[in-house]
This record gives sequence, C-alpha cells and structure tokens, in this order.
Amino acid sequence: MSASRRTFYITTPIYYVNDRPHIGHSYTTTVCDVAARFHRFLGLDVFFLTGTDEHGVKVEKSAAERGVSPQALADQNAAEFQRVLQMLDFTNDDFIRTTQPRHTLQVERFVQRLIASGDIYLGQYEGWYDEGQEEFVPDTRAKDQDYKSAVSGKPLVRMREDNYFFRLSAYQQRLEQLYDQQPEFVRPEARRNEMLGRLRDGLQDVPVTRTSFTWGIPIPGQDRHVLWVWLDALSNYVTALGLGLEPHETDLVPRDRARFWPADYHVIGKEILFFHAIFWPAMLMALDLPLPRCVYAHSFWISEGRKMSKSLGNFIDLPTIQGYIDSFSLDAFRWFLITQGPLGSTDTDFARAKFIEVYNSDLANTLGNSLSRVVNMIGKYFDGRAPEPGSHTIEGFDWPSITRTAVDHTIAAMARLELSEAMDAALGLVRQVDAFIDATRPFTMAKDESQREQLAAVLYQCAETLRIASMLLWCALPNKIEQAWRMLGQSVEPAAGNLRDLCTWGGLKPGTMLTRGDALFPRYAEQKSE
Ligand code: MSP
Repeated sequence: MSASRRTFYITTPIYYVNDRPHIGHSYTTTVCDVAARFHRFLGLDVFFLTGTDEHGVKVEKSAAERGVSPQALADQNAAEFQRVLQMLDFTNDDFIRTTQPRHTLQVERFVQRLIASGDIYLGQYEGWYDEGQEEFVPDTRAKDQDYKSAVSGKPLVRMREDNYFFRLSAYQQRLEQLYDQQPEFVRPEARRNEMLGRLRDGLQDVPVTRTSFTWGIPIPGQDRHVLWVWLDALSNYVTALGLGLEPHETDLVPRDRARFWPADYHVIGKEILFFHAIFWPAMLMALDLPLPRCVYAHSFWISEGRKMSKSLGNFIDLPTIQGYIDSFSLDAFRWFLITQGPLGSTDTDFARAKFIEVYNSDLANTLGNSLSRVVNMIGKYFDGRAPEPGSHTIEGFDWPSITRTAVDHTIAAMARLELSEAMDAALGLVRQVDAFIDATRPFTMAKDESQREQLAAVLYQCAETLRIASMLLWCALPNKIEQAWRMLGQSVEPAAGNLRDLCTWGGLKPGTMLTRGDALFPRYAEQKSE
C-alpha cells in the first residue's frame, strides 16, 4: 500500500462514563462504523476513533453517590463501553480515555501553549452553569430558558469562581469567515443556521477551568484549578493522533498517526454542537492547527413516540438493544439505525412496529428473498454453476450501466455521509433484479429448451447484479453479506481496499459454484400476546 493513499478520519463523541451505553451511543458509533468500513473497502487510509470522557463534576458526583472513586467509576464504565463496542462489532482503530497519561500530558501542553499565547488568561466568572451539559450559560439565555437546562430541564446552578478564560471573543471574525468559506463545515444545514445565530449573538470568552471540584486535569503550576471538561474532552481528537507530543515521544502514540489530521468528520449529537462547531475550531485556530472538514450533528432518537427518560422507563437501553439483536440479528439492527436514523434535522422515533416493517420489507422480502430466488434457480437450472453471460440483453435493463450508476451514487452519498441515500442506491439494485425477474420470468423460460441461452443470460445478470449490490451493502450488513458471499461463491477481503474493482461488471466468473444456504433474513411475524 502506498503511503500517499487518501486519508479518512472519522470520530464519535467520547462518551461520559457516568452513563451506561444506550441507543444514542450505539447510533453515533454505528454511523461512524459504517462510514469507516465503507471507506476502508474503497481503499482509503481510514482512522476511526471513539472513547470515553472521564473527567468533570458529573463523573465526580456520580462516583460519590456510588461510594467509589471517580477513577474506579471511570475504569468500570470505560470497560463496559469497550465490551459493548465489541458486542456491536465496531471497527474503531483506537479507544481513547481522557484519564490516560498519553492524553493528559498533551492536554497540559496545549494549555501551557494557550496561556503563553494569551489565549487563556486569569479572570473571574459569575453566572449560570448547566451541570448536566457542563456548560456556562450566558445571562440572557439563562433567562430565556427560565433558569433551567435546555437539555435536561434541571435548574441551572449559580456560580462564582476565579477562572481561567479562553479568549473566544477574539475568534469571532475568523469563525465567521470559516462559516462563510466552508459552508459544509457544519451539517446539516439547519444546524449550521443555528450556529450562525450563535455567531450573530456575539461570542463571549469562556471559563476553561474550575476550582469547585478536583476531578480534572490540573492547570500546570496552578493546582487549585482543574481544566473544564470540554477543553479536555475535545482535545481527544488530536491527542489520539499525538499532535501534542514532543518529537522524541513516539512510544505514547504512533508518530505516523499525525497524517490523519484534519478530521473528515466529527459525528456528534445536536446537543453538543456549540462546543464542536464554535469552541473547538477557535481552540484549533489558537493552537495553529488545521480545522476539521465537517462537524456533522445528527438529531435524536426518541422512543415509541416519546422522549427517552429514566422516569418514563422507555430508554432503548442495552437489554432492549440485545433483544432486537437476538430476534433480528445485529446486521438488521445496524440497518434500521442507519437507514431510518436521525441523520437529518428532525428527531426519529424508534418504534418496534416500524423496525419490523423495515426488516421485512428491505431485508427479508428484498435482499434475502432475491438472493435465495436467484441462487435457487441457478441451482435448479444450471446445477449451481454461474451460467455463461452470452450476448442476450433485455430491453430496459442495461445492467453494466445500471450497476455503474448505482456504484457511483453509493460512493458519492457515502462521502457526504448520506447513509440512507447510499444504502437506498445499493438496495435499489436488488429491487431492480426483482423487477427484472418479474419482467423476464426465467422459471417460464426454463420450460422451453430453445430459450436456454436467454435463460443463462438472465440468471447471469441477476447473480452478477446481486454480487455487485452485496459489495456496496457490506459496510452496513457485514456478517450477513459475508454469508451471501459464500452463497455466491465469492471470497472477498474488504481490507484489500478494492471495492471499485469488485464492482466492475463481469466479475462473476461463469462456472463459479453457487450454494444454497439458510435464509439470510427469515421473515418476522410478531407473536400475538394472548
Ligand atoms: N462527553 C460528551 C462528548 C464529548 S466529545 C468531545 C458527551 N457525552 S455523552 O455520553 O453524553 O454522549 C453524547 C452523545 O451520545 C451525543 O452527542 C450523541 O452522539 C449520542 N446520543 C445521546 N442520546 C442520543 C439520542 N437519544 N439519540 C441519538 N444520539 C444521542 O456529550
């Protein structure tokens, strides 16, 4: 592999360790995993990062409530997050924890640099604080929100502290320019507009240290002050690549990871956009580091029509997720998340009835059914061997061109992180195979010996199109597609990064042995409860 391959760096937020993994964390991570797998298969040099955010007052308080040390709580829950990542088959290249020395060391360096440049200075803060969000709330917004958190609804806390401040206001103009010159910096559009609104309101300097608790990275030489958790947490995106290391410190982070910066996508939920879209680029500007290409802020899952909350007990939590995986398969769960999920600017309902509908229509009736139909017919009429393509074409079905268009469409949509559009283009091929079978009726052709060549051509075209569709669908349905490859007689190694070659028409060699297998996605009928 050449050193000059195009890089693709995608990150999830790092998750707070005072919470248990739930649908929200799984969703963002699945989006990143699908994009990472696809781009690796395409041959890009990919780095996919996730991890845990372990400092701050919230973690300190949760630990105290449980009677354990914050580090013990962090260790326990970081392990739980890692276990879940494995259970969900994610392919992250690293897992960063903000209590790791490789991270804290670099963050201290960043802070020293920012103090030296005057971007961080000592002052005093008096105002409102949202503890759930770890966010300082300006007076006017606090009043508009009736002194409650816009996210959790809990009362804001009045705070008066000596703090170090980050000179955010000094970056107002450069941020305006960024938004102007890089319109895709924040997506989707509705979220970008929100941030333009925040810029129009004018930016104030932000306190970046706290003195009322101790669970954080101490300010070098100023032990009374610990770093505000957001400055600490955001830095993970560059500390994991070693951008704050001295030249000799290669053992902390592999040196060649620096090539991945700047990130292509920071994928996050909409509630933490300000930090990523305003504070983070300003901090990078102050550190003289290049800016990410896009901060993508998705919306929220709600549950059966209502906001998820502990009091309603309607959290799509881990046991619920496990239940879906047991009944429908992990791949089906991934498919639902990425094709139906809230990547756009409105929240999406996670409803069981909808899940079953999508499962049956996309996976059981379309993908699974089409594959078994075609493999079965080839089994029956050609002893399981892929027939000769011959020269027959059927009016309205120029397959080389149809597949090329779908492949280009999927690749382009994936690059824009439009996952449901990408998967729709890929599954569209399968739907067209169904339409083709309906139009050509190979089972009728099979009864007429004189149509043997035509039958061979039709079934070759079906199998070859399904093979190409399978390449495009692998990123979302890796386990099931690997099963489909066995049925289609294909041995594929996505790590080889040759997706485009594999999608070239004619890749299915005549004579290849196809084998019938279990239904990929058995149709699901809900048991009626008595
Ligand atoms: N630790 C911060 C992020 C620091 S990043 C430098 C944090 N952590 S969190 O544990 O609260 O995770 C928040 C993320 O979980 C959201 O940004 C989003 O990615 C995901 N979700 C949490 N609830 C969600 C839904 N209901 N729906 C979809 N995703 C949501 O914030």
